[in-house]
Amino acid sequence: MEKRSSNFETLAVHAGVKPDPSTGAIMTPIFATSTYVQTSPGKHLGYDYSRTSNPTRKALEESIAALEGGKFGLALSSGCTGVDILMHMLEVGDHVVSVDDVYGGTSRLFRTIWAKHGVQTTFADLTAHSVSDFATPKTKVIWIETPTNPLLKVIDIERAVSWARKQNPRPLVVVDNTFASPYFQSPLALGADVVLHSTTKYLNGHSDVVGGALVTNDEELFKKMHHIQNSMGGISGPFDSWLVLRGIKTLALRMKRHEENAMALAQFLEKHPQVEKVLYPGLKSHPQHEVAKKQMHGFGGMVTFFLKGKLENAQRFLESLEVFSLAESLGGVESLVDHPAIMTHASIPAETRAKLGITDTLVRLSVGIESLSDLQNDLDKALQKSK
Ligand SMILES: Cc1ncc(COP(=O)(O)O)c(C=O)c1O
Repeated sequence: MEKRSSNFETLAVHAGVKPDPSTGAIMTPIFATSTYVQTSPGKHLGYDYSRTSNPTRKALEESIAALEGGKFGLALSSGCTGVDILMHMLEVGDHVVSVDDVYGGTSRLFRTIWAKHGVQTTFADLTAHSVSDFATPKTKVIWIETPTNPLLKVIDIERAVSWARKQNPRPLVVVDNTFASPYFQSPLALGADVVLHSTTKYLNGHSDVVGGALVTNDEELFKKMHHIQNSMGGISGPFDSWLVLRGIKTLALRMKRHEENAMALAQFLEKHPQVEKVLYPGLKSHPQHEVAKKQMHGFGGMVTFFLKGKLENAQRFLESLEVFSLAESLGGVESLVDHPAIMTHASIPAETRAKLGITDTLVRLSVGIESLSDLQNDLDKALQKSK
């Protein structure tokens, strides 16, 4: 298994955060200001307007960049803003090859917004096929989400990078690292050009912010992304930036606990008579378990499974849970359960959902940090009631 950097925990607490020079405050203040005083036109302390830059946001950008092993970070208004910024770099006629089981909102942007603006996306099962099977001379981006949402497919990042590096012009390899978090996966170290996060999820970890981030080592690429962000205004505000910065301090502790609970529940569900099949990258039965072992530092806190029966059985199960809350989103300290077909992935056409295997009995768990026995008993009781 890819080894995690030993100083990750220290970076999570300290990266990007310096005592405030005017007061010595150990915590980065919330710089709630739109503008900054200049001593002479163009003469200022590095900040002129908060759409362009803000000290609280900058601290967060440095923190996330450090955790991803990147030089440059941008903190955004949401994960979808990150998708949109990357797509704004393309031109009419350009083409994207994307993982088929991509987050529903990302797929919606590709299909319903960017296709209209002349950028077509081919959705491909990149676990079974190489990018070369779908690429055209106009392919400018390879869009990888791994593990995917909701089917937890694991895509071999190095394989896509090695193909991209042989092409001229070379397509960008983008990795949405939201599910793994930088604690469990380092796409830049595997050769990816850009990492995307919905910081709404594990990075913030407390279900009280919607935010996003982009990280890269390529200065030119960073300048282009910042130009687009500054032009369109998709920024993380100072209070949201501060909350995410605060959440990140406990990222390592939280991720360890999410994973311990997720692994135990995946093993429990795999043996449960009411469960048809469990998908968790840490299980030997997962089709890409070996790829996950090779490229991740751990397997994360998301578990997906198929219940036995029909939609009614899934509904009874979801209505009976008491510790797990039925809600969209993921990555918070509290356990959530989602019915992708009706909730998070409803924007994907029914035919495509059926082809992917997002069925009426598919359930996605975001396993929180509560007591394992409470979580297991909750699932067990609700599974009994689902019959
Ligand atoms: C994997 C993944 N990427 C991107 C997003 C979009 O993030 P946001 O909701 O912060 O815009 C989500 C949201 O659920 C997601 O799960």
